[in-house]
Amino acid sequence: MTLVLVTGGTGHLGQDLVDRLVRDGHQVRVFARTRRSRNDVEWAIGDLATGEGLPMALRGVHTVINAATHSPVARRGGFRPVDFFTSPSDVDAEGTRRLLDLSQQVSVQHFLHVSIVGLDEASLPYARVKLKGERMVRESGLPWSVVRATPFYYLLERMLAGFGWLPVWPVPKAVCNPVDTTDVADHLTRCAFDGERGVRAEIGGPEDLSLVEHARQYLAARAMHRTVMPVHVSEKTARGMGFVKSNGVRGTLSWKDWLRRRFAGTRKAA
Ligand SMILES: NC(=O)c1ccc[n+]([C@@H]2O[C@H](COP(=O)([O-])OP(=O)(O)OC[C@H]3O[C@@H](n4cnc5c(N)ncnc54)[C@H](OP(=O)(O)O)[C@@H]3O)[C@@H](O)[C@H]2O)c1
Repeated sequence: MTLVLVTGGTGHLGQDLVDRLVRDGHQVRVFARTRRSRNDVEWAIGDLATGEGLPMALRGVHTVINAATHSPVARRGGFRPVDFFTSPSDVDAEGTRRLLDLSQQVSVQHFLHVSIVGLDEASLPYARVKLKGERMVRESGLPWSVVRATPFYYLLERMLAGFGWLPVWPVPKAVCNPVDTTDVADHLTRCAFDGERGVRAEIGGPEDLSLVEHARQYLAARAMHRTVMPVHVSEKTARGMGFVKSNGVRGTLSWKDWLRRRFAGTRKAA
């Protein structure tokens, strides 16, 4: 049995990942700021932003999966003007640095880092911070892997929900393939233990759909009536905003099925 340390194990992706690692019989230690109720894992309490608790968390660890992030946009589910100028780097850059240094000290055998498709072209400050963290991993002397994923369905849903008050939704026509965290977790679990290292196949959702179609399916699932107004943006602008299409590994859960599960009962109630 290998001891796997998961940072971000309490997040959207992290919880699905921890479920799979436990299912597959791995010994799992979750690094988090606060302990949660699940008792099929070990808890290591600390903070990536300060380094508190990290030396203890890394003791005896074979594999680190770094799925922690400090994304104010993901947390609140929408943009504010400040997000176009700055993004905190305490977890994704400085925290990654701390984690890498200590992983080196205890000779971690595999450092698997979760990243985002299209970072090199993205223009938002959060993307720049993520890219900095990813580069640190690639330049570390550790045996490392980087897995990039397209935006997660839960984030897209939060963003669309934020438009709820508007009667007309201006939506870019950009084509993209967001993905569910369960599919990303399956891919990461395979990558963690297949013996390979380096830049791994990126992962996106099963279908390439325009954002306009994503918005329409969302409205249908919620039985909401809004006018979707398609807006042309260049492919470069769309990628800069993070609306990316990946031709790597494909997840299996479609946006429509994800929405059906998420809003089961909404249509009946409406
Ligand atoms: N969201 C997307 O669309 C998307 C797309 C592609 C890739 N990714 C990447 O996938 C990974 C997971 O994203 P997610 O959306 O699932 O994240 P999330 O739900 O926002 O969860 C973030 C996790 O990071 C932890 N964390 C935050 N600050 C911390 C700190 N100071 N010290 C220790 N832990 C801290 C949180 O723990 P607490 O319980 O303490 O808050 C939580 O477990 C990230 O690397 C992200 O960049 C995300």
